[in-house]
Amino acid sequence: MAVVDVSRRTLIVGGTSALVGAGLGAGATAYVTTQRTGPTLWQHADRSGAPPVTGLHTQFGSDAATEVVVSWHTAVAVENPHVLVGTPDDGVGNAVAAETVTYRDALSRSEIRVHHARLTGLAPDTDYVYAAVHDGADPELGSVRTAPRGRAPIRFTSFGDQSTPMLDAKVAASFGSDHVGSPAAGDITTAVERLAPLFHLVNGDLCYANLAHDRVRTWSDWFENNTRSARHRPWMPAPGNHENERGNGPIGYGAYQAYFGLPDSGSDPELRGLWYAFTAGSVRVIILANDDICYQDGGNSYVRGYSGAAQKRWLEKELERTRSNKDIDWVVVCMHQTAVSTGNKTNGADLGIRENWLPLFDRFNVDLVVCGHEHHYERSHALRGTLPTDTLTPNPVDAQPGSIDTSKGTVHLVIGGGGTSIPSNTMLFPEPRCRVLMSVGAVDPSTGRKTPNYIEEAAPWSVFRDRDNPCGFVAFDVDPGHPGGNTSMDATYYAVSGPFGEVRAVDKFTLTRPRTDR
Ligand SMILES: [Fe+2]
Repeated sequence: MAVVDVSRRTLIVGGTSALVGAGLGAGATAYVTTQRTGPTLWQHADRSGAPPVTGLHTQFGSDAATEVVVSWHTAVAVENPHVLVGTPDDGVGNAVAAETVTYRDALSRSEIRVHHARLTGLAPDTDYVYAAVHDGADPELGSVRTAPRGRAPIRFTSFGDQSTPMLDAKVAASFGSDHVGSPAAGDITTAVERLAPLFHLVNGDLCYANLAHDRVRTWSDWFENNTRSARHRPWMPAPGNHENERGNGPIGYGAYQAYFGLPDSGSDPELRGLWYAFTAGSVRVIILANDDICYQDGGNSYVRGYSGAAQKRWLEKELERTRSNKDIDWVVVCMHQTAVSTGNKTNGADLGIRENWLPLFDRFNVDLVVCGHEHHYERSHALRGTLPTDTLTPNPVDAQPGSIDTSKGTVHLVIGGGGTSIPSNTMLFPEPRCRVLMSVGAVDPSTGRKTPNYIEEAAPWSVFRDRDNPCGFVAFDVDPGHPGGNTSMDATYYAVSGPFGEVRAVDKFTLTRPRTDR
């Protein structure tokens, strides 16, 4: 329950689950003072008829030390959506109005309103508590920690290809998951919470709404499953091919673009949020939208080249700026489709990535790439340049076990066992080989998609593949090191099993590089 006492302007929030869940050690009752003017509300949703705050989640702004966006959605218009934000010591105090973004789902014709409250001017490395609310609704509580400024230890996690654990009603009055979901999609969220990262990277293919007969429900299910984590730590997504939904937005990403309030990359408004970057500690994270450059026809429509190379121009400038910044040591790219995979009869690697992104990753010494699209876990050696093949096979340059020097090359991780019902850990080539999608032909009437043309090659870049576990994620722990020395990043791939998100370390390695300030 929650009560707002108008005379004292004090919000008394009963129950502690949100605050305890955030690790803030709150007592039985939290007292939080509002700064709002004018009459405040008796929050009683069943009397007011206002829709609840649904799908509460957070994102970082481009400076994760000072900017957080708090978001939720409703299926009808609401009045006065806003967030009350403060610190655990001082309570929820300042009101920040939310901006509402809408999209109309082209299948169901239902209109979804997504409310984004942008919190700016926050203090680095600080816990905040907040309440998201609109008139007539009970406030939903969350907390978020800003990133440290500059070099400091941070932890982040990553996986892609999650889906949802919910069952959907099917047309023939039966129940099932028509969007490749499975219970593991819930287990993995529980598991991420065990690691309590500062933020989580979602490597595309979030909920597979574009395969569902009820796309809005599927998005809602995804947020319902993940709000227990995403309201406490930003989930920063990259768009995958299954975020491409027929009829939604100018190129199919209208739902994705509405649900997330992501850093501005200066792109045209219709391409807002598809690619972006943010800084957390000494890490610059760059999110890419690979449908723009991939050959594969993997969404509801074929959109290759939609940015007219604007994304590539942005990436080059972004990398140039980042590598000239002496406060940044690590460049981490998060994207969906992959340049490397030893999956057989899966999507494989896409030549478009090797042609467009890898030369830039080489030129600007990108340290780490996390991706998905293939529903298993595998790791490459540090890669730099290409072998003399038509497929532009990435060239392994540092085959050391254990500690890997990323100033010599980029390590690629496929982390796509996020929980779907079709994992690919049992579909790997016996020996490391790679199917590279080189081009597409005419539309195949049986699939409705352009026919892919593959070339199979040896994969000398491959170092580790998990054949045993269908579901897992990676946690990264950044150690800033000392002036004049190296910085390092310990990575652990955890397999996930069971309803309580049991984790078991399966692959461990350390990335290292000289600090840029030395
Ligand atoms: Fe995908």
